Amino acid sequence: MSDTSVKVAVLASGRGSNLAALLDARERGELPVDFVLVGSDKAAAGALRLAEAANIPTLALDPRSYPDRRAFDLELFARISASGAHWLVLAGFMRILDGEALAPWLGRIINIHPSLLPKYPGLHTHRRALAAGDAEHGASVHFITAELDGGPVIAQARLPIIAGDTEQSLAERLLPLEHRLLPAVLAELASGRLQWHEQAPRFDGQPLLIPLQLSEHGLQP
Ligand code: GRF
Repeated sequence: MSDTSVKVAVLASGRGSNLAALLDARERGELPVDFVLVGSDKAAAGALRLAEAANIPTLALDPRSYPDRRAFDLELFARISASGAHWLVLAGFMRILDGEALAPWLGRIINIHPSLLPKYPGLHTHRRALAAGDAEHGASVHFITAELDGGPVIAQARLPIIAGDTEQSLAERLLPLEHRLLPAVLAELASGRLQWHEQAPRFDGQPLLIPLQLSEHGLQP
């Protein structure tokens, strides 16, 4: 019998609350995928402990053991390929990926980023949204390309910035939205409604020109 399950690897550097959201969505029957590997560049990452508890194979690679970024990333992608994963989800993976190493994976890697891209690629997104006096903030899930946080945006979740907001309050209000956004996007990849076609995202067979938006009913065009 052929194995038709949708195999997904996840990379995370931190506590892993987005990974937990993926595992919970799968547990609820909303995400029909198999998580075949959780990897990290930090052996102490909470995400690895979550994966162990869920009986998912784990991988911890220390970048300091490799001569350069490309060598580390080539080993990382070799190990991900060996896991049988078809999709790769970056859930708080705090490293830039080498363009050559990720080339065979173009269109198969998604990342969650805590800003309304193209605003605020990189770090300190909440602080930068506040400093700019923005009226709203949010999170984006995008396809990974060689450009940092620059690949095509698939979907976004938005929240208003309110008087008195701080970096911490914004991060706290945004996180539950991230936890709905990432599983929802992965579910659309698994279902085949969302595809990578000729270097760009397509949804329901049409070019996705405007990111999907997370509403209380899920992702909406
Ligand atoms: C999230 O805010 C994610 O958007 C950012 O890093 C954080 C990861 O949190 N890139 P967690 O490890 O998933 O709890």
